Amino acid sequence: MKRGTTVYLYELAWILPSVAIPVGMLVALLVTAFGAGVHLPGREGRVDPTRVAATAPFDLPGVVALAPGRYEARMVAQTWSFTPNEIRVPAGSTVTFVVTSKDVVHGLLIHGVNVNVMLLPGQIARVTARFDRPGEYPFVCHEYCGIAHHTMWGKVVVEARR
Ligand code: CUA
Repeated sequence: MKRGTTVYLYELAWILPSVAIPVGMLVALLVTAFGAGVHLPGREGRVDPTRVAATAPFDLPGVVALAPGRYEARMVAQTWSFTPNEIRVPAGSTVTFVVTSKDVVHGLLIHGVNVNVMLLPGQIARVTARFDRPGEYPFVCHEYCGIAHHTMWGKVVVEARR
């Protein structure tokens, strides 16, 4: 093998990954942004954090039935509680949680289902989960929000169908 050819192959071994890695990252970015819908919080999902209690749907926190087996849980987070702190739905329900914070950054993590969101003041978080098994699904605030952060919790009670 000629000396010039060896250098070329060695360079190529570095050039290919140095092109492939950024191209791979760009593809991953496009797939998450446009395929999976991962993006920054939008302006359309925002309410005035100083007027949460007077702004629909947070003026009437609670569970509303949208259709058979489909519910929307409208919740407000504030230091150091959730309103409401108990959500009751029948087993087999799909629940969309529509949540915002009145004051500082809180979080909502529901055990047993795939719900884990940050609650930014005035930003509306919307996340959906299905509750098939009857029982209690505790939820907690998982963003440190002050001295009584650890007391900020509640539960989803899934009732057996009669
Ligand atoms: Cu709210 Cu921690």
